[in-house]
This record gives sequence, structure tokens and C-alpha cells, in this order.
Amino acid sequence: MDNYKQQVSEFFNRRTAYDLEGSRHPHEAKLLLKSVPLQEGQRILDVATGTGLVALPAAQKVGLEGYVVGIDISPGMLHQARQKIEALGLKNIEVIQTDADYLDCADESFDVIFYCSAIMYLTNIPAALQKWYCWLKSGGFLAFSCAAETAYMATVQRRVCARLFDIKLPHINEPLGTPEKCHNLLKQAGFKDINVKIEPSGEYLSVNERSMSWTGSGFYPRGNPLLQLSPEQLARLQSEYRSVACAAACVANLALLYQRLLAESFVPKHPPNLDRLD
Ligand SMILES: C[S@@+](CC[C@H](N)C(=O)[O-])C[C@H]1O[C@@H](n2cnc3c(N)ncnc32)[C@H](O)[C@@H]1O
Repeated sequence: MDNYKQQVSEFFNRRTAYDLEGSRHPHEAKLLLKSVPLQEGQRILDVATGTGLVALPAAQKVGLEGYVVGIDISPGMLHQARQKIEALGLKNIEVIQTDADYLDCADESFDVIFYCSAIMYLTNIPAALQKWYCWLKSGGFLAFSCAAETAYMATVQRRVCARLFDIKLPHINEPLGTPEKCHNLLKQAGFKDINVKIEPSGEYLSVNERSMSWTGSGFYPRGNPLLQLSPEQLARLQSEYRSVACAAACVANLALLYQRLLAESFVPKHPPNLDRLD
């Protein structure tokens, strides 16, 4: 596992009570589940399943004739998922520890692929979309949610990096951060009837010590440009960020700092190719 993946896995391993961190994760899982009409007997893949917030209710919906596979890179998150599966006595679900970037499945294996609040951790999103397109049966659905480019304090972080060091800081979800980008990448992968919604996730960050400090830390799936900075430059970054973030907090009356947006895409695959039936 490379350094970045190790960092991601450890970050989630430390979150030993993930489901109780607030209402955001269960809320987003519910929204995503609502977007696809699940039916008994379907085969579902839940990529980056975490504690199974999507996978477990999906398993209950598809029943014993159906099947759910959840995969995740973090053994800690999967441990929480397994405890819940056991407590519920579910027999039609399995969770597997593996890296989504290297996952391989047979073509036309699934009716639905879910990817809730995690697609931005992938290192190669266009390649993943193409693989998922092949793994879906004709008429299958892909449904994912992710943060918009404006989410978190990314806008302030980017402004500070550009102003101090002329560095263009990539947002973790740069490839899919707007509805237009989602639409274009899905179209390029071959998907049709694309529907992308963007909406507030309904949660605000309280303005506290944590939200005012940033040392340049974060996940950069496609490379971290801040690695080139010296410790002195990082200290300047931290101090400048703090003053800009504090000023923003004052202007926003200590309320609107955290505006996470939810982008969802519901993608029925193309109808069967009649040419192939000749
Ligand atoms: C914010 S959590 C979302 C979990 C779950 N989908 C949910 O909605 O509650 C992100 C998850 O992505 C997983 N993840 C990140 N990168 C991954 C990768 N390359 N392969 C598999 N899982 C990954 C993390 O371990 C973590 O469980």
C-alpha cells in the first residue's frame, strides 16, 4: 500500500464510532439509497462501504434472493460493519478489505453500484467509472455522492496557497466537484440518462479552534503540492490561513463557514445494444 493509501486507511481506522459522529453520514447514506429503486433479488456493489451505512439497508431490501458486496480499504471501518451484520443476522452480504483503485470484477455482475461520500479518495476516477460501467448489467444504476468543490474550507485554503506561494491547491474532489464535471466524466465513461443534483448537506461547522487551524494537512489523491514547502513556509501558511478564516467567520456571522454540498448522480446504463443481437 502506498503512503497516501496508508494515510487514508489509518485515518478511517481511528474513527472507531463513525456512525455516531453526527447525523451527516447516516443522512447522506439515506439520500443515496432513496435515489435508486432497489428490488428483491438484485446484486449490489457498495464501493468504500465503510461501516455499511448503505450496504446493510440495501441487503435488507434485496432480500435473500439478492446479494450485497461491500469493499473498503480500512479494516477498522469493516470491523464496525461486520459487527452490525452479525447483530442483524444478515446472510446475503459480505464485506471485503481491498483497494477500490485495484478492484476487478466480471462484466455485467451488478444491478446497482453505490459509492457514498468516498469517490474523491480514488486516484483515477475516470478509469474507475469506465470499469463500473462494464460491471453493471444493462439497465443498471450507478449512484454516488461526493463533496462539491466549494465544500469544506477549500476555497480559503486555495486562496491562501495561491496568494502566498503561487501554488494551485487541488480540491480533493477536483475531478467531480461540479455538476458539469460529473456529467462530463460519466458521459465519457459511456453512461446515459445522467442526473446530477447539488444540494446543501444540511450541516454547518461550528466555528471553533479546529476549524481555524490548518497546517496544510489533507488528502491529495493526485499528489500534494505542499510537500515542496519548507517548515517556515508551512508556518506562514498556517498563520495566514488563520487570519483569513477568522475574517471569513466574522463576515459570515460565525455560521456559514462550513458549506458542504452534496452532489448525487443517478445513472441508468444504456438500453441493450440491438446491433449486438443481430
Ligand atoms: C467518508 S467514508 C464513507 C463510508 C460509507 N460509504 C458511508 O457512506 O458511510 C469513506 C470511506 O472510503 C474508504 N476508502 C477510501 N479510499 C478507499 C479506497 N481506495 N478503496 C476502498 N475504500 C476506500 C475509507 O476507508 C472510508 O471507509
